[in-house]
Amino acid sequence: MKVRKAVIPVAGLGTRFLPATKSIPKELLTIVDRPTIQYIVEEVVASGIEQVIFVTSEGKSAIENHFDYNFHLDAVLKEKKKVVLGEELNNISNLIDIVSVRQKKPLGLGHAIWTARHVVGNEPFMVCLGDDLVLSKIPCAKQMLDLFEEVGESIVAIQHVPQNETFQYGIVEGEKDTRDHTFKVSRMVEKPSPGTTDSDMAIIGRYILMPEIFAILETITPGHGGEIQLTDALLALTKKRAMYAYEFQGIRFDAGDKMGYLKANIAYGLRHPSLGKQLLEHLKEVVAGK
Ligand code: G1P
Repeated sequence: MKVRKAVIPVAGLGTRFLPATKSIPKELLTIVDRPTIQYIVEEVVASGIEQVIFVTSEGKSAIENHFDYNFHLDAVLKEKKKVVLGEELNNISNLIDIVSVRQKKPLGLGHAIWTARHVVGNEPFMVCLGDDLVLSKIPCAKQMLDLFEEVGESIVAIQHVPQNETFQYGIVEGEKDTRDHTFKVSRMVEKPSPGTTDSDMAIIGRYILMPEIFAILETITPGHGGEIQLTDALLALTKKRAMYAYEFQGIRFDAGDKMGYLKANIAYGLRHPSLGKQLLEHLKEVVAGK
């Protein structure tokens, strides 16, 4: 059971990042020198995924264009003999096979995933949320795919968060498994009200899901915020099959949030091969008040 496909929902309005996202999809906001979405696509490519399925909506076609071949730009760069830049752009369009499906109504994350059911078919698949960037030695998706090879069941990526932030996430309860960084899920709740769970294990936007999730999403009733919640469908799936929570190794940034976005730019900037050193010097000067 190889995981070949990654569903990346990109239909969201990006209201947390207005006014920047008024006419630009939040997925195209730049972290150092690449749009956020490119990091996610590169992560799944580096992890061995063979096809990306974007769940898009009206006003998001610039995302597909970013991964397409741009004949006009290529011709201009060739004429100007900008070979390296031309190759870099063509590498983006050759990264991976991309398919798009359209979510026609904003009915929630669960509904967005369900929209991809025909393209995914009857096989396990990955879901990556475009807001969540993970900086790590081994790509987060690869860490999860390695675990999937062992357990062959659904996996959600988690990290521990402060108790006063649990209401912002899907929260998982479960028992420690014998494998490192792994828990067997017993219960999960989307955006719990304070005091309703003792767990601090928050779902981060990486999932490996069994295809049975689609039948559950088809019939599930709206949950938190009146939306079809993926977390509710996952809870229903735990009643039928085992599910694991995996504490990935790496630093996660919520790039859909203003502070998370700034932090991501600094972290990725500091690690950038040609910009990192200079940025560090500059930051030191700024902190020193020069
Ligand atoms: C979504 C999921 C939530 C998860 C979060 C991670 O929420 O519904 O379970 O914890 O992503 O980023 P959203 O941030 O879209 O409200």
